[in-house]
Amino acid sequence: MRSFFHVSDIGDLGKALEEARQVKATPFAWKELGRDKTIILIFFNSSLRTRLSSQKAALNLGMNPIVLNVGADSWKLETQLGVVMDGDKSEHLREAIPVIGSYCDLIGVRSFAGLQDRDFDYAETILSQFIEYSGKPVISLESATVHPCQAFADLITIEEYKTKPRPKVVMTWAPHPRALPQAVPNSFAEWMNAADVDFVITHPEGYELDPKFVGDVVVEYDQMKALEGADFVYAKNWSCPGVSRPEDYGKILNKDMDWVVDARHMAVTDNAYFMHCLPVRRNMIVSDEVIDSPRSIVIPEAANRVVSAQVVMKRMLEDLR
Ligand code: CP
Repeated sequence: MRSFFHVSDIGDLGKALEEARQVKATPFAWKELGRDKTIILIFFNSSLRTRLSSQKAALNLGMNPIVLNVGADSWKLETQLGVVMDGDKSEHLREAIPVIGSYCDLIGVRSFAGLQDRDFDYAETILSQFIEYSGKPVISLESATVHPCQAFADLITIEEYKTKPRPKVVMTWAPHPRALPQAVPNSFAEWMNAADVDFVITHPEGYELDPKFVGDVVVEYDQMKALEGADFVYAKNWSCPGVSRPEDYGKILNKDMDWVVDARHMAVTDNAYFMHCLPVRRNMIVSDEVIDSPRSIVIPEAANRVVSAQVVMKRMLEDLR
């Protein structure tokens, strides 16, 4: 595997889930695979889960993880091509990336959408440069449009908790005080489309996700109707994807608190499990009552981030042999 961005990069999902089960059962069985290998994890943005789970996955495989916090530990990096570098950015990605590539075997990059320029974000301009100029396999640790390590962990979690062969999974938009990227819902939709689930999306009008991720999934604008009979409720905020109105890209169009997932919403489900990628704002996305209930699986979901990252790194290391 040369890069990990999309569900197609992981190949057969059944095989990937079986591999995840093996990795979870025997996490240290591949210690020799990563011996004398280095992964550099580059963070342009904050993280708790991705940073720690990626390091833990690398350590489980016997690798040496190095974390670089861009701007805090390094020079500020210029990402735009063709600019006069007379501002506060001392180094360009064009030099930094091949230098980083010369120090490691694998690279992970977290680089959120700027939410200012849809074309720049949706072209994955920063991650694409890492692929082009590093010469090393690259993992998206949440880039402008995707968060595949999260979506893979979400699918592993659904597989573990499902009690029906084809569960109903509902992804619901929820309000948030700040404009957030679409990477998590894009990837969740992409992975659920590929999985054996009955997938429904619900959000207010104007929040339609890019068709390249959602395909022909049903969008039910009535949240309560969408949640009826759900086995899993996946809550997430995202800002306007700008699909029909590019001028609204990255804007907050709605703050309706009726969309906060609470006991009233969960009551119409089939005793659904509650999921969220975290971090989550309590009583903004989900009520205390729901996230603290026995049906909340946000902690095991986060724990599976080690498993998803380890499967991806393991496959990349196997391909290096
Ligand atoms: N879910 C997730 O990616 O968490 P962090 O932003 O803390 O890494």
